[in-house]
Amino acid sequence: MQRTFSIIKPDAVKRNLIGHINQIIENSELKILASKKMYLTKNQAEIFYQVHKQRPFFNSLVNYMTSGPLQVQVLEGMDAVAKYRKIMGATNPVEAEEGTIRKLYAESIEANSVHGSDSEENANIEISFFFAGSELV
Ligand code: CMP
Repeated sequence: MQRTFSIIKPDAVKRNLIGHINQIIENSELKILASKKMYLTKNQAEIFYQVHKQRPFFNSLVNYMTSGPLQVQVLEGMDAVAKYRKIMGATNPVEAEEGTIRKLYAESIEANSVHGSDSEENANIEISFFFAGSELV
């Protein structure tokens, strides 16, 4: 069993897609241990995406991630990190496989509907950034 961290991003929340995306997650035998809707502050978005600080899209990404409410979630299952990345599809929806969340719903490479951790180590960092251990049930 492994845990991963997921965000349903502002573009998807705005279009009422939380249920649709969570249906895909649950159909893939991932359990939603915790889920909450929130706004990211500019400071939280900058810290969360600090690895991309030098990239040309950083400021735009921070603006987008603070543009509306999002849904932060913790998922658990066998190989959760890899499994969730597979069902999300490629970062750029143009390159995403048929049937993946991003192929179905993403609007652009930036407004790409979902985030998922890229390793177990980062999953643990990202989970503890948003959730207390007691919230994971
Ligand atoms: P995510 O998987 O959350 O990780 C970093 C985010 O930056 C990514 O999804 C996109 O939302 C955004 N991103 C990545 N590459 C680009 C790009 N080339 N242009 C704009 N935004 C990008």
